[in-house]
Amino acid sequence: MEKKSIHVSYTEFNSIEELKIDEKNLLNKAHQAVGSSYAPYSKFHVGAAVLLEDDTIVLGSNQENAAYPSWLCAERVALFAASAQYPNVAVVAIAITVHSEKSKINEPLPPCGACRQVMTEYEYKGNHNMKIILQGESGNIQIIDRADYLLPLIFNPKYLK
Ligand code: THU
Repeated sequence: MEKKSIHVSYTEFNSIEELKIDEKNLLNKAHQAVGSSYAPYSKFHVGAAVLLEDDTIVLGSNQENAAYPSWLCAERVALFAASAQYPNVAVVAIAITVHSEKSKINEPLPPCGACRQVMTEYEYKGNHNMKIILQGESGNIQIIDRADYLLPLIFNPKYLK
């Protein structure tokens, strides 16, 4: 028997001013995307901005439904739209933010498990790591260099070959 462990690393920044210009721009776009969120049930408005290898930016926001399981998270709205419109261009980064009507969220918003699975799928599809940039409405920013860092031991397409 051998005990093994997996180490996950990320970088934390105190201010958006510490980010590189393209990271800062993408994060600002994610804040902008919050404006198109349709979240009358949760009142939790999530914005996502996806950066493609050719510098195209695709926005997404969470879209809710009276039939609750029909909701879709902002990250998947943005990633599916990007893959549908630009199927041959790799995703290189995604920024995610949230503005809640219930309380001010001043810490980075970790993406849900299903969105992490989808992010890693597009890393595989584009053969490119996807940088993840997280911030709440304000406050600290976390950057994770690869989506698969957030989902260790992931089920991935190699098992289907
Ligand atoms: N939501 C996202 O858009 N992304 C996440 O990673 C977590 C949750 C949305 C889904 C739903 O509209 C609301 O936030 C509350 O769960």
